[in-house]
Amino acid sequence: MITLTHVTKQFDRIHYGLNDVSFHIEAGEFVFLTGPSGAGKSTLLKLLFRDAVPSTGEVQVAGHRLSIMPLREIPLLRRKLGVVFQDFKLIRTLTVFENVAFVLKILGVSHMEQRQRAFRALKMVGLQHKLSSYPLQLSGGEQQRVAIARALVNDPLVLLADEPTGNLDPDLANEIMSLFERINGQGTTVIVATHDKPMILKMRKRVLGLERGRLSWDQPAPASTVVV
Ligand SMILES: Nc1ncnc2c1ncn2[C@@H]1O[C@H](COP(=O)(O)OP(=O)(O)OP(=O)(O)O)[C@@H](O)[C@H]1O
Ligand SMILES: [Mg+2]
Repeated sequence: MITLTHVTKQFDRIHYGLNDVSFHIEAGEFVFLTGPSGAGKSTLLKLLFRDAVPSTGEVQVAGHRLSIMPLREIPLLRRKLGVVFQDFKLIRTLTVFENVAFVLKILGVSHMEQRQRAFRALKMVGLQHKLSSYPLQLSGGEQQRVAIARALVNDPLVLLADEPTGNLDPDLANEIMSLFERINGQGTTVIVATHDKPMILKMRKRVLGLERGRLSWDQPAPASTVVV
């Protein structure tokens, strides 16, 4: 589903966002991306949804070769992805419902279907009762959950999330991770960038570790103990 081959992202002569990073993620995997602040986690996610292009190397996502992909193909790629940003990026002047349904509206989905799918996505994050609120009337955690509903509304092949639990209390963070697990169980490839070490340990998934732009480890999910 995702392959990086010798990917480097250089911002200027001495600053690297990523430095010679290669890995492969199969369809249906759940992968954590971790590493200290400034390690390159957000830079990597940006390359995956073609918000940035590598300086050298090849990024392949869902059958698209991003380095040779014409600009007109970007919407096709993004239609297959759901992205949860570090800073939510909700539109203040739109209600919760409108924020979640926005992408469907752009895709020309009927009003009735927009309502059904936005409602279903909001129900998944437990916010169906906040349909008519505006983002600034919500807590940080609630805004984060709206951002997650928005990423899920289009049934993406791949869900990319940048620090999705950074603003949440531990119970809510656990709930969001369970939600991601459920989504992953339905076949969606999930990639979560986070600093949250206890969460990573608890979840027992594959972990990619970045340090100063380099992939410093790739730890497979621990084998599950089969209880007969
Ligand atoms: N547009 C840019 N121009 C110059 N340098 C940048 C740019 N974007 C990121 N960087 C640098 O690239 C490095 C990686 O940044 P990135 O945002 O990917 O880190 P991160 O791992 O997501 O950190 P955090 O955990 O704080 O979110 C940092 O040193 C950052 O300063
Ligand atoms: Mg970041």
